[in-house]
Amino acid sequence: MGDRVVTPTGLRRYGASMTWMVTGGAGYIGSHVVAAMRSAGESVVPLDDLSTGYASRLDGVPLVEGSTLDGPLIERTQREHSVHGVVHLAAKKQVEESVRRPLYYYHQNVESLRVLLEAVTAAGVPSFVFSSTARPSTAHPTSPSSTRTRPADRSTPMARPS
Ligand SMILES: NC(=O)c1ccc[n+]([C@@H]2O[C@H](COP(=O)([O-])OP(=O)(O)OC[C@H]3O[C@@H](n4cnc5c(N)ncnc54)[C@H](O)[C@@H]3O)[C@@H](O)[C@H]2O)c1
Repeated sequence: MGDRVVTPTGLRRYGASMTWMVTGGAGYIGSHVVAAMRSAGESVVPLDDLSTGYASRLDGVPLVEGSTLDGPLIERTQREHSVHGVVHLAAKKQVEESVRRPLYYYHQNVESLRVLLEAVTAAGVPSFVFSSTARPSTAHPTSPSSTRTRPADRSTPMARPS
């Protein structure tokens, strides 16, 4: 592992060969993260199954197309791209669909996190950034408070402790 330096973005870089894998990199948040990290000089490999994302958002950045549920694909991507950090943004986030298909959501959001963490841990990847779901809070149209201060809405699968 190379010398540790702090980049202008504040991200720590371990030598010149460090690559960040951005899961959900073709999503709304992910594609902005990929662009921002590349602007900051970081090497980035987006991984996305394109279930709700679009490769066209990546402005030509090569995409690894596949699921975070695919352990061998994650391992291969880590190895081939010398991944030393992961930003995990791949997720399903539709409230109505999550209520209708809770087991699908647990599989996509919870099991895929387990598979990813297993691969990352096995490879000794030192940095992992996880964005949790945007939808844990109660819908409360009359409350002026921010979603951060509202109680979690346990009626949706995304807000229940796993
Ligand atoms: N959009 C927001 O304002 C916001 C705010 C806070 C947190 N978040 C959270 O950030 C994450 C991303 O949100 P978004 O708005 O970019 O959603 P999005 O649907 O645009 O992006 C998710 C991406 O993940 C991909 N994906 C889904 N499941 C996958 C899997 N198993 N394997 C590989 N790729 C998979 C999709 O194809 C998509 O490109 C979610 O967890 C969301 O809850 C979003």
